[in-house]
Amino acid sequence: MGHKEKELKMKKLKITGPCKLSGEVHISRAKNAYLPILAAVLLTDKEVRLRNLPDLRDIKTMVKLLKNLGVEVHEEGETTVFNAKNLSSHEATYELVKTMRASIFVLGPLISRLKKAKVSLPGGCAIGTRPIDIHLKNLEKMGVHIDLNSGYVQANAEELKGTRLALNFPSVGATENLMMAGVFADGTTIIENAAKEPEIDDLANFLNSMGAKISGIGTSKITIEGVKELFETEYESIGDRIEAATYIMAGLATSSDIKVLKFDPTHLEFVIDKLKETGAQIDVLENGVHVKPSKLKSINIETAPYPGFPTDAQAQLVSLSLMSEGTTIVKENIFENRFMHVPELIRMGANINLSGNAAIVEGGHELKGAPVMCTDLRASAALIIAALCAKGETIIDRVYHLERGYEKLSAKFAGLGANVEVIE
Ligand code: EPZ
Repeated sequence: MGHKEKELKMKKLKITGPCKLSGEVHISRAKNAYLPILAAVLLTDKEVRLRNLPDLRDIKTMVKLLKNLGVEVHEEGETTVFNAKNLSSHEATYELVKTMRASIFVLGPLISRLKKAKVSLPGGCAIGTRPIDIHLKNLEKMGVHIDLNSGYVQANAEELKGTRLALNFPSVGATENLMMAGVFADGTTIIENAAKEPEIDDLANFLNSMGAKISGIGTSKITIEGVKELFETEYESIGDRIEAATYIMAGLATSSDIKVLKFDPTHLEFVIDKLKETGAQIDVLENGVHVKPSKLKSINIETAPYPGFPTDAQAQLVSLSLMSEGTTIVKENIFENRFMHVPELIRMGANINLSGNAAIVEGGHELKGAPVMCTDLRASAALIIAALCAKGETIIDRVYHLERGYEKLSAKFAGLGANVEVIE
């Protein structure tokens, strides 16, 4: 384990609860919008200016991958300037891809731009095997030759042909990769059963701002008319709806009065409606929400593709359910192993039983601070919420998981009045 890895693994968070939150928190730009947008930088030889990239490990990893491919990058204040005029490589190596599966997003752009790509298979991660068969099968339908050997996807294409693609699951990543593969394709590409997450709309709007011709945005049928080239653009992504959901649930769990601002509340419409069904007092504002102290009762919820309840907010909901009266059943329908927060929450005194893809949560029991460990990004957020409610000190280990997706997390929670300390 390198020094950097060791140093990262050493960092811990100490949270002393229970505590009330107050004030307002500003949401950062969306990690899952900017990751495909960064990959799309590869599609043009003109300048691309991106505003307010969040300071996250996954974003840094993607920028590093772009630099390894020959993209010039420099900062101008809050704007990061990219130029992919002279690409020097078409390869995304295992060293980089193993730290972040979203590296697979460079596959579509590299094939579009260079007609070839060599990208390490992303491999599974803590929450599941996460195959990319939908990406590859549909790229082949567009005329891409795919070979899988020694852990790499080797892709080559003489010509990318626009065609009708039907996804057998509305995969977010596959929809994004195929959209980027269609941008210069000969003819029109139609993606049926496309994923409809707001981050996909954001990628389509970004590509159109460069001169792409994408329609059907926000629907499950996306049409991409091939164009010859893309031009310079300046862009800022949407706010991070999953970060927002995390703070909303932290506010509700601690029965606090806080404002969660700088994101589009319509991106959380289903989540907010479901939380209101539990009795949550949430006022929807123009650029966010106002959360008020609420007495919560339990309701059953299951995750689904957008606009359903997002799998990325499931772990946080389990923690919130610990504070609701009664029994909550939370079903996870997207990933096969996304309850790793549960054993850690049980260490804090939670009463949760797992049965297949469901967590049966008994609310209303007091939680006690305890040493716990992060396992994946969103499970870690669930531990923070529980620690804010628990009596006593919680030490959260392997905080680097949190730094992948939550910008300035300890500072933001401290700003809301939480008793949180970073321990080196
Ligand atoms: C994106 O992952 C997000 N990541 C995930 O957020 C999010 O949980 C997920 O979408 C679902 O909303 C980014 O946007 C960077 P999928 P992705 O392809 O694209 C199966 C976070 O916490 N599948 O929609 O990998 C797959 O196994 C991360 O920020 C196939 O079977 O999600 C899974 O069960 C975690 N074959 C389901 O579809 C494929 O080719 C959803 O995967 C592709 C996916």
